[in-house]
Amino acid sequence: MPQKNKLYLKTFGCAQNESDSERIKTYYQERGYELVQNWKEANLIVINSCVIRESAENRVYGLIDKIRKAESASANASAKRRIILTGCLVPISKKTIKGVDEMLPIKKISFKVEPLRDKKRAALITISSGCNNYCSYCIVPYARGKEISRKMETILKEVDGAIKKGFEEVVLIGQNVNSYGADLEESSIFNLSAKGGSVSGGQSSMGKKRIKSAFPKLLEEVAKKNLKKVSFISSNPWDFSDELIEVIAKYSNIDRLLHLPFQSGDDKVLKNMNRGYTKQEYLDLVEKIKSKVPGVKFSTDIIIGFPGEDEVAFQNTVDVCKKVGFEIAYLNKYSPRRGTVSAKLYKDEIPMSEKKRRWNILNDLVNKKEK
Ligand code: 5AD
Ligand code: SF4
Repeated sequence: MPQKNKLYLKTFGCAQNESDSERIKTYYQERGYELVQNWKEANLIVINSCVIRESAENRVYGLIDKIRKAESASANASAKRRIILTGCLVPISKKTIKGVDEMLPIKKISFKVEPLRDKKRAALITISSGCNNYCSYCIVPYARGKEISRKMETILKEVDGAIKKGFEEVVLIGQNVNSYGADLEESSIFNLSAKGGSVSGGQSSMGKKRIKSAFPKLLEEVAKKNLKKVSFISSNPWDFSDELIEVIAKYSNIDRLLHLPFQSGDDKVLKNMNRGYTKQEYLDLVEKIKSKVPGVKFSTDIIIGFPGEDEVAFQNTVDVCKKVGFEIAYLNKYSPRRGTVSAKLYKDEIPMSEKKRRWNILNDLVNKKEK
């Protein structure tokens, strides 16, 4: 039975969504709602959605459908719950999704709302949202907009707040975490502890001209604080500057497990993905980091079955896995997403059975090996 002022919050997707959900909790608590773990008890249901792959999007529709069907079948069919949809499905939907009462753009839940953090794990700190990279397969720039960085001073205050509350670990989060600050004025980055220095960048470790990033500076400021562990997700190989590597090497409380998605080990596929690096450049970057940061380990994201991924291309991905020796690989079967360049230009030609076969090979190689 739905009860008054009870909220059920379901979060799909990445750490950014989990972090947003911690602010959603406070937002509704301040409005008199109490969190419940079972949607059946709630009169308000907030769904924080993800659309990265079709399967993620379908899980959102599945939940809405399940709730509405159960309601119509119940004896008390008039007691309808209010369903609010937020997260990444909202900006890319032209109209209100069936079964939903309100589409709430996540931007309406301000960063000024204090997050209700999960005490059992690291404090999640969003430092930027959105993405300007336009990898051809990725819906994020459409769902989350262009990259917007929060002010460094505000982020550091949030970290201090988490430390005061007893957190010893933080995770800095951004869709492209290490391009942080490219959209900020230098003055807003350095007015807090201005001891000179300039925003790093213009040059990535891969030798390409790159936008300026203040991420090394931010990471250093956070690492200097009294924290056991500082992690960050997700990095783009492109923006992994030498300065960033130096900061990691200098502070032992920075996590030695680096998440560095490579997506594919094949140059032709990488080009069509618009990733901006080659297999060799990725491998060189990993070697450079390994040589400067003793004990470093890597995790990664891979897309399996991107259009044009023939057996030779797939073997290049296998080869990168063998050479790097990842701790864990998040394996994603290619899913064409509406509005993206790859969905417009290329046919999703690789059969699901073949994607599954390749998935198993990589899973056995990386995720099941003896560690
Ligand atoms: N199909 C499959 N996987 C995708 N990812 C992003 N977009 C797609 C897509 N269209 C994966 C990438 C990314 C991770 C978050 O999700 O591997 O790093
Ligand atoms: Fe999913 Fe991407 Fe949105 Fe995260 S940013 S919730 S992965 S669509």
